[in-house]
Amino acid sequence: MSNNLDLLDPAIMGDETSMYALLEDLRENDPVSYVEHPDYQPFWSITRHEDIKFISQNNERFLNNPRTVLIQKEFEQAMLEQFGTRNGLETLIHMDAPKHRKLRGVTRDWFKPGPIGRLSGDIQSIAKEYVDKMESLGGECDFVKEISLLYPLRVIMSIIGVAPEEEAMMLKLTQELFGGADPSQSRGEEVEDGLAVLMDFFNYFTALVEQRKKNPQDDLATLLATALVDGEPLEQLEQISYFIITATAGHDTTAATIAGGLRALIQHPEQMDKLRANPELYHNAAREMIRWTSPVRHMMRTTTQDEEFHGQTIKAGENLCLWYPAANRDARAIENPDVFDIERDTRNQLALGFGGHMCLGQHLAVLEVELFFRELIPRLRHVEFVGEPEWVQAIFVGGPKSMQVRYEFLAK
Ligand code: HEM
Repeated sequence: MSNNLDLLDPAIMGDETSMYALLEDLRENDPVSYVEHPDYQPFWSITRHEDIKFISQNNERFLNNPRTVLIQKEFEQAMLEQFGTRNGLETLIHMDAPKHRKLRGVTRDWFKPGPIGRLSGDIQSIAKEYVDKMESLGGECDFVKEISLLYPLRVIMSIIGVAPEEEAMMLKLTQELFGGADPSQSRGEEVEDGLAVLMDFFNYFTALVEQRKKNPQDDLATLLATALVDGEPLEQLEQISYFIITATAGHDTTAATIAGGLRALIQHPEQMDKLRANPELYHNAAREMIRWTSPVRHMMRTTTQDEEFHGQTIKAGENLCLWYPAANRDARAIENPDVFDIERDTRNQLALGFGGHMCLGQHLAVLEVELFFRELIPRLRHVEFVGEPEWVQAIFVGGPKSMQVRYEFLAK
């Protein structure tokens, strides 16, 4: 029997090597595994591709509400008392039909490939700015702290309409929210510290909504501030939660993909050469980087009826945790899954989820990753690691926390 409690250990799940070893063990030997940990409500861990895909596409049988991500019991209780929901938020990932469909409809068109494609020029300029910055740093930098964390942050904040001078504060809040298990990123260990992070988000976005109602602009903040659903404005918790999910989901994930993507190219120089020689591969390479890094480690669902998976009965009302990195390395669904291959068929991956809740920002995410490497790779003569990366200790969104690289740009 595998040690499924390790799934809740941020140090094990934060480090790529130990995470993949644990997930492989579970997927092969204990694919539907009941996890009981003193600090968490019990749940079933699901690690096979076909099961995760099936659960994700049957949104009426497997609900998002009330448990969407793994949060410690004590914290869930505190949020229930403070906000009236176990998650503290009311975002798209916390909703089910019909409300989910209506609220997703508010931004659905905005995030479609056509409108997102029209942002290419702006995103390309931001990518250039950060590759220029890398060049100006003189041949060595912490790629995560100085480049990959900041570029997607600038992109999503400019889309939302957050002023550049407030980006650093947003980055800190996101890291405090997602990296809460990592002592170097959390605000503190007490439940109140986590609640204070949420309150800071609330206060900031409430003020932004008021500003946009008075002075509408061409940005997502204005769309969310003025949206009507069934003729009514969004409720405050829904509205602020919408800001929080786009602001947070929109950069840590992409940042982790870009850092992990560069790491993969350094580790597989033949793929870097192939990319350089075949610019038409940038789009697919971005998608493969997303599969390879699978920065969102899990999402949860709750059963509405008794279910049977691999001989295990899961009762109605029990919770399932879907481990995306495990699915993306499942050889039953993906050929040679442990090979980083920028030419592979990337359609069957689950890093962006699947079904009705599939990532709203998926086209933006792929475009951001693609445009960054399109700018960087042709300008780079050589790049290598200096030492080993450090990983964020997290069980929800993971990736490198710090990655020192040495490099040489081609002469202009
Ligand atoms: C490489 C980057 C990204 C990855 C790996 C990623 C991954 C995911 C995953 C796994 C889900 C849950 C899907 C499910 O339950 O089936 C999700 C949902 C979501 N993502 Fe992303 N995401 C990324 C980038 C973005 C960006 C740039 C945005 C920008 C707004 C975004 C916004 C959202 C939202 C709003 C949801 C909730 C959708 C819903 O429940 O209807 N994500 N994402």
